[in-house]
Amino acid sequence: MATTIYQGLEVLFSRQQIAERVAEMGAQITRDLNGEKLVMIGVLKGAAPFLADLSRAIQIDATFDFVATSSYGKGQRSSGAVKLIKDLDHSIEGKNVLVVEDILDTGLTLSYLRKLFVQQHPKSLRIATLLDKPSRRIEKIDADYVGFSIPNLFVIGYGMDYAERYRNLPDICVMPAGEPE
Ligand code: IMP
Ligand code: MG
Repeated sequence: MATTIYQGLEVLFSRQQIAERVAEMGAQITRDLNGEKLVMIGVLKGAAPFLADLSRAIQIDATFDFVATSSYGKGQRSSGAVKLIKDLDHSIEGKNVLVVEDILDTGLTLSYLRKLFVQQHPKSLRIATLLDKPSRRIEKIDADYVGFSIPNLFVIGYGMDYAERYRNLPDICVMPAGEPE
């Protein structure tokens, strides 16, 4: 690998595989929106690279907004409760909304956000997640667009972190078992 940040990491999805899948998702979303405008809502921070790439694969008049939630502590385990740390800047009433997430895991975050957004009466509400771990689900929720379904692995890169590290890896890698240094 080119950089030492990759030492000991197994690549699960390469940047090329990600780019190909994101392009397909963008084409699908473009077809589904049928020329209507879109508000893309990124869930900070993990979804930022995915939103940046997906938005450029969507041929639609789109605007961006961002929310931030907390549910995970510093490590790999969820604390359970979801809290809104940063709210939307603009109203989504009457708008076509696409929530953009890096990974759908227990479903707690997206269930919480979906409930919050539905209360604001958007015209439509869709969810796009790059990764889905269906076996980990606690809250019943499905995304409308899923990049890749994966087994119960902890992954890093392309926005996803372990204790805030590794977000800038261009590929999605598997976090090795045990605490790294
Ligand atoms: P959920 O609320 O359990 O569905 O978790 C959603 C959030 O947990 C995601 O947006 C990620 O930030 C984080 N998360 C879940 N699984 C992973 C993982 O394998 N790697 C990095 N972050 C993860
Ligand atoms: Mg996230």
